[in-house]
Amino acid sequence: MRLRNLKNTTEIMENSPYLVKAPENYCGKTSQLFPKKQPLHIEIGMGKGDFLMQMAMKHPNINYIGIEKFDKVVARALLKIPSDLENLKIYRFDAISISSLFSHEVDKLYLNFSDPWPKKRQAKHRLTSPFFLEQYEQIFKTAKEIKIKTDNVPFFLYSLETLSQQGYQLYEISLDYQKELQIDTAQSEYEQKFCEKGIPICHVKAVK
Ligand SMILES: C[S@@+](CC[C@H](N)C(=O)[O-])C[C@H]1O[C@@H](n2cnc3c(N)ncnc32)[C@H](O)[C@@H]1O
Repeated sequence: MRLRNLKNTTEIMENSPYLVKAPENYCGKTSQLFPKKQPLHIEIGMGKGDFLMQMAMKHPNINYIGIEKFDKVVARALLKIPSDLENLKIYRFDAISISSLFSHEVDKLYLNFSDPWPKKRQAKHRLTSPFFLEQYEQIFKTAKEIKIKTDNVPFFLYSLETLSQQGYQLYEISLDYQKELQIDTAQSEYEQKFCEKGIPICHVKAVK
């Protein structure tokens, strides 16, 4: 993700009410971060947060947590969030240790335009690799749902395979979901860019 220089990243992060410092401390008690106890949906690799912000505004009856590993990207997201969203929190965290953040608390996971890591030797970094899917077992409640959108067909096909090997049932599978499926969803920054260029977007809903 390309970013123009943001000089006051640390200041933005220190002063934002949305950024949770030491998020591991809330493992097993994430509901304490929100005024209302309600379902928890998360996005890993939220980038500048456009998708989650729209979702949080549209669905006040759901709590959302966005996870992003780079300070500068997080700071960009924090600058965009309107001041009165009480159902959204942000974690600056590398999801490689995601199982230390949640203990059977998550209802739904969104993966929007995840980095595809195209080389075979990089496959373990993909957010749908068996390594990550194993960790997701720890974060989800009994019912598990992962929703994926991507422009990258090889990453998509890889994910369909790993998800079904992990026991997920696959629904709403499409290589061009905007043409083929009627889904009420928000668009991430990457999705908006790809749509402007007419690039089709793959979609799947995986349930276990
Ligand atoms: C291609 S961008 C997509 C951003 C956004 N989801 C969108 O659709 O506009 C992928 C984002 O995932 C983040 N990311 C990749 N691996 C991650 C990880 N292990 N933990 C947290 N964030 C990660 C990257 O820093 C980057 O911001």
